[in-house]
Amino acid sequence: MKVLVIGATGGVGSRLVSMLVESGHEVHGLHRKPEQAKMLQRQGATPRAGDLMEMRPSDYRDAVRGMDAVVFSAGAGGAGEVQAARIDGDGPEMLVPAMEAEGVRRLVVVSVFPEAGRARQVPDTFEHYMACKKRADVAVARSGLDWVILRPGTLVTAEGDGCVTAARVAPYGDVARGNVAAAIAGVIERPWLRWEAIELTDGETPVGEALDGFRR
Ligand SMILES: NC(=O)c1ccc[n+]([C@@H]2O[C@H](COP(=O)([O-])OP(=O)(O)OC[C@H]3O[C@@H](n4cnc5c(N)ncnc54)[C@H](OP(=O)(O)O)[C@@H]3O)[C@@H](O)[C@H]2O)c1
Repeated sequence: MKVLVIGATGGVGSRLVSMLVESGHEVHGLHRKPEQAKMLQRQGATPRAGDLMEMRPSDYRDAVRGMDAVVFSAGAGGAGEVQAARIDGDGPEMLVPAMEAEGVRRLVVVSVFPEAGRARQVPDTFEHYMACKKRADVAVARSGLDWVILRPGTLVTAEGDGCVTAARVAPYGDVARGNVAAAIAGVIERPWLRWEAIELTDGETPVGEALDGFRR
């Protein structure tokens, strides 16, 4: 499959690129810094330059043209509200019509666990980030695409042991970035898995088995 990964150089995205290449997919990775192109090439992916702060609807169309699937795993992190609005909110919102226009149906979006801020002191910027993610989720869920929204708990920099809890409604917890990447790769391998928002944490069930549970 020809897969565009937006956020290909991130903690989740870079792990995902390697997994998809390893599985034989043709992976295209969006990056914003020139030096990241070589890294993507070393991983076996095709680099595609693009800054989400600058990209316009036509740039999204150019980026997705000819793809079989698109993964959106980019995020502004702590860069600020303007960046969160543009990347975490507008990004998927602009991606959806671009994919519809280009006839690319498969979309996997990395969102956030709804309980992320509960029982914690969080800054206003965090509330803003959560609102941007929700705005994006709504745009994706209202689309005519074959979408899956993944909602990971708190991301931990680790490969993970490949075992997760993945459910429509699940208890909140941490999740290894490697496990999130494995879950995205697992969704890509399961075209029947669509129109689901999946809460994801580390757990006891192998990723493939957890995703197959959505057949019921
Ligand atoms: N942190 C958490 O606990 C948590 C929890 C749930 C969900 N999430 C979400 O999970 C997703 C993946 O997280 P992660 O840890 O992999 O994030 P990350 O390591 O910060 O990676 C973010 C990716 O987005 C890219 N990006 C940022 N600004 C960009 C721009 N202007 N143009 C193009 N690309 C840009 C980054 O590129 P560079 O390499 O150039 O920076 C990087 O590839 C994000 O959507 C995040 O919001 C995070």
